[in-house]
Amino acid sequence: MTIDQEIARRRTFGIISHPDAGKTTLTEKLLLFGGAIQKAGAVKSSKIKDHARSDWMEIEKQRGISVATSVMGFTYRDTKINLLDTPGHQDFAEDTYRTLTAVDSVIMVIDCVKGVETQTEKLMDVCRMRSTPVICFINKLDREGRDPFDLLDEIEEKLDIKVRPLSWPISMGKTFKGVYSLYEKSLHLFTASKTVVEEGIEISDIQSQELDQLVGEKNAEQLRADVELIEGVYPEFSVADYAAGEVAPVFFGSAVNNFGVKELLDTFIRIAPTPRSRETTVREVAPHEPKFTGFVFKIHANMDPKHRNRIAFVRVCSGAFHRGDTYFHVRHNKGYRFSNATAFLAQDRETIDEAWPGDIVGIYDTGNLKIGDTLTEGEKLQYTGIPSFSPEIFKEVVNKDAMKSKQLEKGLLQLMEEGVAQLFTFDVGKRKVIGTVGALQFEVIQFRLLHEYSATVEFHNQQIYKACWISSSDERKLQEFIQSKMRYIARDKDGKLVFMAESKAWLQMVQDNFPEIRFHFTSEFKD
Ligand code: G4P
Repeated sequence: MTIDQEIARRRTFGIISHPDAGKTTLTEKLLLFGGAIQKAGAVKSSKIKDHARSDWMEIEKQRGISVATSVMGFTYRDTKINLLDTPGHQDFAEDTYRTLTAVDSVIMVIDCVKGVETQTEKLMDVCRMRSTPVICFINKLDREGRDPFDLLDEIEEKLDIKVRPLSWPISMGKTFKGVYSLYEKSLHLFTASKTVVEEGIEISDIQSQELDQLVGEKNAEQLRADVELIEGVYPEFSVADYAAGEVAPVFFGSAVNNFGVKELLDTFIRIAPTPRSRETTVREVAPHEPKFTGFVFKIHANMDPKHRNRIAFVRVCSGAFHRGDTYFHVRHNKGYRFSNATAFLAQDRETIDEAWPGDIVGIYDTGNLKIGDTLTEGEKLQYTGIPSFSPEIFKEVVNKDAMKSKQLEKGLLQLMEEGVAQLFTFDVGKRKVIGTVGALQFEVIQFRLLHEYSATVEFHNQQIYKACWISSSDERKLQEFIQSKMRYIARDKDGKLVFMAESKAWLQMVQDNFPEIRFHFTSEFKD
């Protein structure tokens, strides 16, 4: 197969949702279709439930599960699908944001009873930053949910994206009859089933009496009225608008009953984008370029503390990756040979010899790679669009065992390179402050520092609202600002300047007082 054919048959995507909307269930059903698993229940949820907050074994176990299910590759109708798992627990949101940098599209699961929830909104913001195409799957139609038109309005309003329903439910909850595909013009009648899927019934004209017989007169009338309204209100579905991240096609179904999932998957492989060109610091790189390029978007530590090796997840962006070849590590400005590379399959990892754009390669690493690193065949370019976001909780790290400061330094560095949290070092006093999205990370960090590096730490709360990366076109003004706000200036892991704002109101005041200074909430920005 040529590289163009390999690219054309690849779809790399992620499923995102607010916890409990049905992401794990949908993942499992998709894998069933791909023949990647044989029975339901094979995919364990990688979410860490609240009750597990201080259960270390649970966290360790989850870490193990999450590496196994981090990337799931399977083939469906000759399409090679790479599904990247994102942690459901909101404390791991940063990990999710980074994973989204490696996908070409997403499927967003929304619970029809709860509608758009907070985590859905945050994830959509990340998709919007990169114009990632989104398909919405409204789940749990077997429950008494909200009115479908209201749900669509809510998606448009809260997620700030236009929608276009491609399927439509016939009733809901106890009286749920099925969905009508506006795209295929066919009807799928609901039968609760864990594995079997029946083919749809083609209805070329919903005015026909056949519809009344299939779903009852009242439901048939309602469907006709709904379809008329949809066609009057929503413009014709455009694949180009979807690919540009401007319109989200919407499907309805019930993941646990395996209903509406096949329709979703069939449409997905038809419309979802193939690997696309990506921006670097130097130029845009097209996937069909013959030379290999890729970037690291995730690092996972080995669970065995005696073996320090880690798995770096590399997204192939162009050319072909060949195991055993030497690739250029741009940040280190030197070549490395990666003889131990794996591909991810649904339940397993297997050694691979080559990988194509869109594929994810797992590379065993002893500490040379970090998140955001670019690998090439020699060209000095760096993939962009893998920013750090301002954390939400900040705590100072205090060393409780002076004899172990070296181990602590090393442990902190490694954990930060894995992306567990972000470290900020204040200019004054060299105080080290860790920033995270959720409280759980502090427990994980404390635990891992002790067990893997024999370092004992305590965390002291900090009154910090946001970490703002700062810049200015006027170097003199920037220096003046740093002088006057010395106590609040820190450096991130790359040495970039960060202003640690104590409160929202105070940040606003500082912004007003220093109009020449730009404040950014992500580490990557254009001046
Ligand atoms: P998540 O990964 O997004 O957090 O959600 P997950 O798939 O774990 O689903 C959350 C709960 O919702 C599960 O129930 C799951 O069975 C249920 N669910 C998923 N799809 C549907 C659906 O179409 N209809 C209905 N009624 N429920 C659905 P649970 O009780 O938390 O777990 P379990 O004991 O069923 O595994």
